[in-house]
Amino acid sequence: MKGVILAGGSGTRLHPLTKITNKHLLPLYNKPVIFHAVEKLVSAGIDKIMLVASPQYIEDFVSVLGSGSNWKSRNTSDKQVQIVYGIQNEPTGIADGLWIAKDFIGVDSVVLHLGDNIIFEDLEKHVQNFKSGAKIFVKRVRDPERFGVATIDESGRVIEIIEKPKTPVSDLAVTGIYIYDNSVFDRMIGMPKSERGEYEITWVNNQFIDTGDLEAVHITGDWFDVGTFESLLTASLYVKEKHDSEQKGS
Ligand code: G1P
Repeated sequence: MKGVILAGGSGTRLHPLTKITNKHLLPLYNKPVIFHAVEKLVSAGIDKIMLVASPQYIEDFVSVLGSGSNWKSRNTSDKQVQIVYGIQNEPTGIADGLWIAKDFIGVDSVVLHLGDNIIFEDLEKHVQNFKSGAKIFVKRVRDPERFGVATIDESGRVIEIIEKPKTPVSDLAVTGIYIYDNSVFDRMIGMPKSERGEYEITWVNNQFIDTGDLEAVHITGDWFDVGTFESLLTASLYVKEKHDSEQKGS
């Protein structure tokens, strides 16, 4: 299993903070936001990660993450985690960002982690028991219109995902962490751009739903998408609280 972290986007909702840097490099209490995704993947046993970012900030990501030598592989204790870099020239969407990592992924499966998503679910078990198809993580939220929203049938099965619906049919948001088998690339062939001009990951997920190959896991742990001042602050305070209680416990 490989890991891909997407750290593109212009972060306009965080202006003026993001006028001089990328949102994934802003502080989440004591570390840059991007560390969270890296550490999440590493703790799930993933030791080969591609970070995809825009040309403007790629060097800053290299400065802060380097080759991955700050992290040890969970699989072979004497080896470091390997981080490599992909460049997304234009903000053409999440699915396009994943496509950039196609050769890096090779014949493997992949965990795709949006760099601005802060998730406190243990991913290791989900990675270990992943067999094929797609696995998404959904959570009930108060503001579903900000996200991809899952429509479910009476049995709780996801039958469709709608990207940022004006009038959401459920409060089940799709979080920015996805696991795919290698068929994801074939399924992307012929993909159209959405109205907002992006290759949407929601479109890809709907392809897996259509063939009955998508599993949706309801997460109970906390989750933040740090795209707004409010969520960045809330997530930072949450991380600080966790950090403080860990310090007390140790
Ligand atoms: C993206 C996805 C959306 C998902 C969200 C999670 O939205 O398109 O389906 O719910 O991430 O953070 P974006 O952040 O690109 O607007």
